[in-house]
Formats: sequence, structure tokens, C-alpha cells
Amino acid sequence: CTTRHYTFNIVQHNVTRLCKTKIIVSVNGKFPGPRITAREGDRVLVKVVNNVTNNVSIHWHGIRQLNSGWADGPAYVTQCPIQTGQSYTYNFTITGQRGTLFWHAHISWLRATLYGPIIIFPRRNETYPFKKPHKEVPIIFGEWWNADPEAVINQSLQTGGGPNVSDAYTINGLPGPLYNCSSNDTFRLRVKPGKTYLLRLINAAMNDELFFSIANHTVTIVEADAVYVKPFATSVVVITPGQTTNVLLKTKPHYPHATFLMAARPYATGQGTFDNSTVAGFLEYEEQSDHLHNKTKTLFKPTLPAIGDTGFVANFTQKLRSLNNPKYTLATVPQTVDKHFFFSVGLGSSPCPQNTSCQGPNGTKFSAAVNNISFVLPETAMLQAHFFQNSSGVYTTDFPTNPPNPFNYTGTPPNNTVVSNGTRVVALPFNSSVELVLQDTSILGAESHPLHLHGFNFFIVSEGFGNYDPTNDPAKFNLVDPVERNTVGVPSGGWVAIRFQADNPGVWFMHCHFEVHTSWGLRMAWIVHDGPLATQKLPPPPTDLPRC
Ligand code: C2O
Repeated sequence: CTTRHYTFNIVQHNVTRLCKTKIIVSVNGKFPGPRITAREGDRVLVKVVNNVTNNVSIHWHGIRQLNSGWADGPAYVTQCPIQTGQSYTYNFTITGQRGTLFWHAHISWLRATLYGPIIIFPRRNETYPFKKPHKEVPIIFGEWWNADPEAVINQSLQTGGGPNVSDAYTINGLPGPLYNCSSNDTFRLRVKPGKTYLLRLINAAMNDELFFSIANHTVTIVEADAVYVKPFATSVVVITPGQTTNVLLKTKPHYPHATFLMAARPYATGQGTFDNSTVAGFLEYEEQSDHLHNKTKTLFKPTLPAIGDTGFVANFTQKLRSLNNPKYTLATVPQTVDKHFFFSVGLGSSPCPQNTSCQGPNGTKFSAAVNNISFVLPETAMLQAHFFQNSSGVYTTDFPTNPPNPFNYTGTPPNNTVVSNGTRVVALPFNSSVELVLQDTSILGAESHPLHLHGFNFFIVSEGFGNYDPTNDPAKFNLVDPVERNTVGVPSGGWVAIRFQADNPGVWFMHCHFEVHTSWGLRMAWIVHDGPLATQKLPPPPTDLPRC
């Protein structure tokens, strides 16, 4: 195994999109940011140097961080932010994972411009469970604001209203030809006929689940969230923020003399703040002979499902199954459960402060909550407080195992939509097996929520629409080949059941990967206690760990 060294200089950078030039926060002056490549088993050291006025922290999304919780990155959860002029070296070993993940800033809305791929190859003597592709290409979806994303979220938090939607979706930072003034900013994938390409799809968008499709081509899904899945063919991929999906693209056997549009646009339900504009790129076959060069090529466009096509999404996610091959999977589905939790997830409201006019529902402030608790980040890092056993004033371990009122999915909002604020967590004994049912609420409208868990992969053992039925639904759980991932779209107006083994000591954040919902409080944390003192697995904090 190798140690991979990276330096991330956080610097300001000028970028022009949609005919406007603005200053963004970047890594090394690159947008999207540089890619991290490693092999399974490698150690990765990333020195992050903060040269901007914002506080920063970086999260390695989907990396298990087994016994390396100090390197996870969410601000005020596992570390204090890296302040201007300071640096911190993230130090972790990639254990039992290979595939595509990504890194992003984990403080405020900085991840709008601070993100990049993490590509993990198999160990040297290992191969993919499919034929080696001719080429591998990261395709990272994002969102672009003409305004400063920090101002966008700050305005939302101050007024209590929804934030302005982004001005474009992007593929590898580029909005593509369907947006004004962007035809030069178009992603082009140049291919040869008769070859197989591995596309590493990453949804780094801030607030939207996406449908993705390439005209006149189907792709074969082979991996989700850096875990292999049973291959299946599809013409449309569903991908939520926080998810990564590897697909094989087999090109046409002969040069087709045509150009194919690839496109992504939101899947969105419920009321709210999304649009349905489309990012596009081109799949272009390299010219085989010169005489074709100047002929006009036919342009084919893909068909994407309607913006609210929940049926398509359910059908797609049903097909995702783990490979269920011990050669490739470290984890096994917990067959028994030590701890069961039922969490309601959704929007809510908070009272409007006096002398303010709030733009949320009925003059309140938009909030979001898990079990009606809107999570407040503390002013110091929770992992330090936990490790040094001085959590008093930082957090309490009384997070409820069930919602305060029984969830009733009627589609009608309850009378009381007010959430309570708090920094409350669940404490888990080391290595307990956990079952968690996540139920979308109908408070302020049903909506899909991409829930992301730090520090673990979980198995998605079942999902359904309406209310979870604790008497009859468990009989339908798939404990044989459920898909294993780190982010799950809780179905709009429905529920999902997941299981994981709490084998990783530390403080682990769980939140909606819609950045606006996270900002509004749809987040909480799990504390996994360590093994017995003598075998304690989480080492003391690194000496350069930032202080608050
Ligand atoms: Cu990708 Cu807590 O985030």
C-alpha cells in the first residue's frame, strides 16, 4: 500500500459562467476541484491550507473513516473549522472500499464550489467484477449561482424564506448549450465506437435529485456509493445529492455520424424551490475518416422522466441489489437488531422573531427536523467533547427513538408544525446493530429527502409509500441482497428501512443532503462509544486539529 499526498490550497478564483465573472472559493484555483485517486488500502494525506477569509472544513463523503473519525470533516461535529491562515492534514486509510466517492466542503454552503471526485481503484492484484473498461470518466453534477452561495443561504436563514434557486446545473462545472451564453462551456465526452467506458457519476448538486440520460444509449449500472451492485441496464439514472453511481457505457459498434446529447435535470416533488432547467453535454464519436468531417451530424436528444415521476424513481431503486459476493463486500447485512429507531424527517416551521417579517409558511421561518428536533450545531466540536468526556453544554444524549406525535401520512399538514431546537444525539454501544426506519412527513408537503450517514455504509432493507407499518412491513425486509450505500432517498410520502453495524467509534453526522434542508436543521448525530479502554480504537486527536 502507498501513501498519497495532496495539498489543497483554499484560494479565491475567478470563474466565468453564464456570461458573468465572479470570485469563488476554490481548491488550488480549480473548479471543480482536483481529483483524489488512490487504491483500496492506501493511506491518504490531504493538507488543507486556508487562504480565504471564510472558515473551511472538508469532508470525504462516503469514506468509512474506520477508526479515523478525526478526519471526517463536518464542521462542529468532528472538528472545528480551519480558520484563515491555518492548515489541517486529513489522514485516513481507505479500508474495504473501491469505486467512486467525492470530497466537498462541509461548512455553510461552501460545497457549492468546493468539491471534486475521489476515485478508488481496486488493490493491485484485484480486478473489477466486469471487463476492464477502455476508459474511465468522472461526471460530476453541480449547481451554479450567479450570486454568492453564502449570501443565498444567509438571506434564507435571516428571512425564514426559501433560498433563491441556482442559475444552472452543471456537468463537470459546465452548464452546457441549453443555457444562455454557455455553448462554449459544454462538457464533451469523446468516444470511439465499439468500446466500453466507465462513467463515474457523482451528484454534488446542492438541492436537487437528478435524472440523467444519454440519447440513444443505455448504460449498465455496476456500482453505487463505492459498492458493486448486480448489473442492470437502464436508459435513465436516478441520482440524489450525495450519491455516486458507476455505469458502463458501451458505444455503438460503428461510427454513427451523429452527436448525442447527455442531459440531467431535477427529480422533485412537493412544494418548493426547484426549477426544471436542464444541463446538457455531448457524447461525440471521434471521426473515423476525414470525408465525414464536414458533414452536418444529426443531433439526438434523450428523453427524461417528468419532474415529479416518483414511480420511475421507485422502480429504479428497486433494481439496485448488492452483488452479494463476499469477495467484494466487507459488510454483511445485520440479521438481528440490537437497537431500533423510527425517525420522521421533513420540514416544519419556527416562530418568527419579534419585529421581523418572516417569509416562511404563514409568516413563520422555514425549519426542518428529525423527530421534530431541528438540530443546532454547537460552538465547539462534538467529537472532542465526547473524546475528552466534557459534553456538558455541548450536546445531550436524549435524542428520541420515536417522533413525539405518531406520524400520520394523510397529506394534510398537522395543526402544529412547530419544531424544537436542540443539540441532541443518540448514543450507541460499540458494535450494536441498528435498524432505522426513516419516514417522510407530510408537514408542509411530502418530499423526498436524500439522507446521508457519515462513518458507515448501511443496507437498504425495504422501502414503501404511505405510513410504515411496524406489524406487517418487517416481513418484507430483504436481508439477502439489499443494496449497501451511504445516502438514501427517503421516498416522497413514504419510508425506508436501513440497517448498519455500529462498528466505528466516533461522532457521526446524519443529515439530508439537500443543503437547504441541512441548513434548516434536518440533521442529527450518532455517538458510537469505543471498545473497552484497553482496546480503544479511536486514537487521540492529531496535534494540528483546529481549535474553535
Ligand atoms: Cu456529503 Cu455530511 O455530507
